[in-house]
Amino acid sequence: MTDAAPAPKANMGQPVPRVDARAKVTGSAMYASDFALPDVAYAYLVSSSIAKGRIRSFDLKQARALPGVLDILTHETIGDAIKPVKFFTNGGPASNSVVPLGSEEIAYAGQTIAVVLANSYEVARDAAHRVVVDYATDEPAATFGSSGAVDQELATQNKKHDDPKVGDFAAAFAGAPVKVETSYSTPTQHHNPIELFATQCSWNGPRLTVHEPSQNVYGIKNGLAAQLGIEPSLIRVVSPFIGGAFGSKGSLTQRTAIVAIAARKLGRPVKLVPTREQGFTVATYRAETRHAIKLGATRDGKLQALSHEGFEVTSRPDPYAVAGTDASTRMYACPNIASNVTIVRADRSTPGFMRAPAETPYFFALESAMDELAVALAMDPIELRRVNDTMKEPIKGLFFTSRTLMPCFDQAAEAFGWSKRTPQPSSMRDGDWLIGWGCATSAYPTQMAPAAARVSLFPDGTARVETASHEIGTGIYTVTAQTAAERLGLPVEKVSVLLGDTRLPPAPVSGGSISTASVCSVVAQACDAIRSRLSNGATPPVDLVSALRDRGLGAMEEYAEWVPHGAPKNAMQMLYKGAAQPTGGAKLTDRIQFAFGAQFVEVRVNALTREIRVPRIVGAFAAGRIMNTRTARSQYMGGMIWGIGSALHEQTEIDQKAARYVNTNLADYMVPVNADVIDVQVILVAEEDKLVNPLGIKGIGEIGIVGTSAAVANAIYHATGRRLRDLPLRIDSLVAGV
Ligand code: MOS
Repeated sequence: MTDAAPAPKANMGQPVPRVDARAKVTGSAMYASDFALPDVAYAYLVSSSIAKGRIRSFDLKQARALPGVLDILTHETIGDAIKPVKFFTNGGPASNSVVPLGSEEIAYAGQTIAVVLANSYEVARDAAHRVVVDYATDEPAATFGSSGAVDQELATQNKKHDDPKVGDFAAAFAGAPVKVETSYSTPTQHHNPIELFATQCSWNGPRLTVHEPSQNVYGIKNGLAAQLGIEPSLIRVVSPFIGGAFGSKGSLTQRTAIVAIAARKLGRPVKLVPTREQGFTVATYRAETRHAIKLGATRDGKLQALSHEGFEVTSRPDPYAVAGTDASTRMYACPNIASNVTIVRADRSTPGFMRAPAETPYFFALESAMDELAVALAMDPIELRRVNDTMKEPIKGLFFTSRTLMPCFDQAAEAFGWSKRTPQPSSMRDGDWLIGWGCATSAYPTQMAPAAARVSLFPDGTARVETASHEIGTGIYTVTAQTAAERLGLPVEKVSVLLGDTRLPPAPVSGGSISTASVCSVVAQACDAIRSRLSNGATPPVDLVSALRDRGLGAMEEYAEWVPHGAPKNAMQMLYKGAAQPTGGAKLTDRIQFAFGAQFVEVRVNALTREIRVPRIVGAFAAGRIMNTRTARSQYMGGMIWGIGSALHEQTEIDQKAARYVNTNLADYMVPVNADVIDVQVILVAEEDKLVNPLGIKGIGEIGIVGTSAAVANAIYHATGRRLRDLPLRIDSLVAGV
């Protein structure tokens, strides 16, 4: 204790290389399907080829006859082994309230209707293709405007939703000197993480172990326990590495219970790796949306009236909606605002989270409309954001904890060279290429959830952090190690981190950009508890390892629980049940908290062929304290590259008659490749916000994609004079009508 204390390394904020990088590139990182279970049997799903109707009968003779087939499970053979659980917006754990193998009813194309179990994957697949199904087929409703699709106001279907509004929109819009009235649409999109939606289950007596890539291991554990009618303490969910998630691995899908039942029935471990095609309906997706926007402004650009109506497709049983009006109505100062969200029930699987679920489609609409307003006003689009910038959100008049939007615009504009832009469409040209420059606002609510962690310090100068958070590629192993290293005064390589296992203290769902703030906060708290126990009243800093040795202790361990501002009283109990709801963003009653960004895009449109290229994109983001500038940059780059794909490439095609997805593979589902992404520049804008949490961390996982699509569309308008309002923006959108 009397040793001179070394100054702790300034670990937080440094560009520390990923602590799991070596494990990932050498192949020692274990993904769910990598775990080799003894005597494993293989499962292959049989998916419904119709979207609506019922199964009259199965003919399983040919499938059963294949040597190596062990069993075929259907609704007829498993009985009521899987109990119904509620959809998550109704307080349950399920991403879809259709009971797995629950009945002969078909609710969507691709629904799992049988599972073949065999001694090898190849036999299971072969047998699955020999299953003959006799369906009674009804005509399905595929999407907006399909016969049989039913429109409902979201507020009548989800009691927690309240359409934001203030003032008298209709009167203000009628009297506004400058108006924009437009509509936009975004298509169905699928996540397509490289790691497929694998599940392995093995029973040891009454105990079940599940290997599944998950953004919420405690959610899987508790939800599955309810489905199987067993104690949650009997289930362990293991998910140390996840090969991409983006929301698709955040909730309990149908497959987990089916594999668990199969393993129990066979008395052997069972492994399921659904195909890429099956992944389109095994997991969730981003539903198609439509938007009607009306903006009214004074001649100097001050918004007087704003209305955003959103329309979102969902399934028959579940009222899923992203309701991005919560954010889009709060971005700019405006005294008169109206909004509404309508859900459209169709014969589809229930949609779900997909990165920046609400803001990505809703900000395409809002930020395109803002650009249209700038054109109508003959005003620079940055200036339009500036005159409507506000420290208070307009609906309830709450103050933002921090709002660094305009510094983001200014820094991005400077780096981009915006001052050289000539505003007239088609006025910038390089040979056959029309050049367009556009920009848009990005924003994402700063949310957090309760978290628990255990930190142990050892006399050999190492430490261990345990918390059931999830490495979905964001770098949570690294920032967690950095936090503990700084708080304990250790080099980062002396800290080991265990994540993704329900044997560890619970962490919240790794979605909604909540993990870094939630997990680093609780890890810092546990470390500080160790420091204060070892300080013994002395003035810190002390050399904690020497203090531990001086006391002759073999280890010092601290468990901590952290609950964010605004969380309900039972938040920690709910966390242990895998059901802690994130709090923050626009949900608080005393303040509003968001991260902000500005994105600038150059497009080049070929004057002859109309080919669209994006040679460069600059994004500036302010999101409080940045824990690791290297992983943060990667996050933002990934978001913006995805944004280029979302703007120009991505679309799940739907067979309108059959309500089936058509391009269910990575050859036909278009995503950007290296040739589509040339120069991506990220600017980390300094921001201090001690209100959001003591460490000052806002989330960064989701915001990178938010403004990209609108910035691309706005740049295409500037290049061509053509306003494209329906994603994706492809060559055919520019050829049509020429
Ligand atoms: Mo978030 S939609 O889980 O990336």
